[in-house]
Formats: sequence, structure tokens, C-alpha cells
Amino acid sequence: MIRTAQLTKSFGERTLWQGVDLTLPSGRMLALVGPSGSGKTTLLNCLGLLEKPSSGDILHGEKSLTHLGAGGRRRFRKAHLGYLFQNYALMENATVRQNLDLARRDRERQAHALERVGLAGRGGEKVHRMSGGEQQRIALARLMVKQPSLVLADEPTGALDEGNGRMVIDTLRQMAHEGCTVVVATHKEDVRDGCDDAFDVHTQCLSVAV
Ligand SMILES: Nc1ncnc2c1ncn2[C@@H]1O[C@H](COP(=O)(O)OP(=O)(O)O)[C@@H](O)[C@H]1O
Ligand SMILES: [Mg+2]
Repeated sequence: MIRTAQLTKSFGERTLWQGVDLTLPSGRMLALVGPSGSGKTTLLNCLGLLEKPSSGDILHGEKSLTHLGAGGRRRFRKAHLGYLFQNYALMENATVRQNLDLARRDRERQAHALERVGLAGRGGEKVHRMSGGEQQRIALARLMVKQPSLVLADEPTGALDEGNGRMVIDTLRQMAHEGCTVVVATHKEDVRDGCDDAFDVHTQCLSVAV
């Protein structure tokens, strides 16, 4: 379980959000919502230890993550985190399989994940020859192969048609069922509705589903 304690982020005079206390239990999906520029991506990046908050703490169990050095942050990301970005963040000149190897070299898991996202038998293909929807599905398969305890997704359906968007959310839901925590930054109503809880980074209002 990850928890934030009085987390605050400012750029110069401008405070994006302050005093954020969020608990991210495993098995749940939290949507980060709010207008463009309100700080959704920045909050995700702080949770992913890619950016430092201005003050406050991020805790994994009892352990503070904000005080880790570069090596500790890298190890935490490798052991626990999975990302899903709008631009997929794949190695485009490599094959599907080589991209999945980055998560874990386990052919059985890889085959299962590719089947789940509708790309069975396509492991030998070069990523750059595949469509945007297919590339997002590869990124999803990579997450499933890694099976991280915390998934951070930034507008993961932003560039997708409705069917592919649905598949992304369904897959994230399945991963939550299997025990991971999912945090999704989104400006889309249907994605928010597909999550359990929603935190508006602008109003700092948390709506919790019962
Ligand atoms: N490194 C930075 N220096 C200064 N301002 C930044 C930096 N990173 C982000 N911002 C600003 O913080 C605000 C929030 O950005 P972002 O987290 O991307 O919002 P969202 O994802 O909700 O659209 C934006 O106004 C952006 O310009
Ligand atoms: Mg953003």
C-alpha cells in the first residue's frame, strides 16, 4: 500500500496542490481528474518517483520514498512500478517480444499477455510497423508481464478509439482484481466512471465509492 502525507507541489509562486493525503490500497482504481494544467501528470510523476514533491511524504508501508537516493528510487521503480503513457513509451525499432523482455523474460507469461490483448503470435513483429491501438496494447501486455504492485497510467486512452480504450480500462481493472493498485490520470468521464475512486487535483476533493 502506498500513502501520501501532506504532499504539496509548487512551481515558483504557483501551488498545484497542497496537503494531499491519499491512501492507495491494493485492488483499487483511483482516477486523478481535474482540468488541463491542474497537476494530474505531476502528481503521477511524484508517485512514480520521477519528480520530487515540494513538501510532504510518500510512504510505502512505513518506509518513506521521498528520501530515497537515485539508486533507491530506481530499485523501487524496477521492483514495484508499471507505467502506461499516452505515447506508449515502447522501443519502436525492437520487436514486440524484445519490448516484453524488458518487463520479464518469461515466454509463458508473455504469450498469455499477448493473447489477452488480442496480439497472440505477433511477438516477432517490429513495433514501429504496428498501429497506435496495437502499440498501446503492447504497452498493456508489458504491464501484465511485469505485474507491478502499482500501475500509473497517464491519459492511457487519450489517443485510442472507444473499443481500444475500453480494453485498456478492462485490463487495468483485471490487474486491480489480481491485487495491484491502479492510478489513472484522465479527463474522460467514462474512464473516471470505470475507476472506484476519484481525486480532483484542482478542488482536492476525493470521492470514494462504497
Ligand atoms: N518543471 C516544471 N516547471 C514549471 N512548471 C511546470 C513544470 N512541470 C509542469 N509544470 C506546470 O504545472 C502545471 C501542471 O501540469 P500537469 O501536471 O502536466 O497538468 P495536467 O496533467 O493536469 O494537465 C502546468 O501549468 C505546467 O506548465
Ligand atoms: Mg497531464
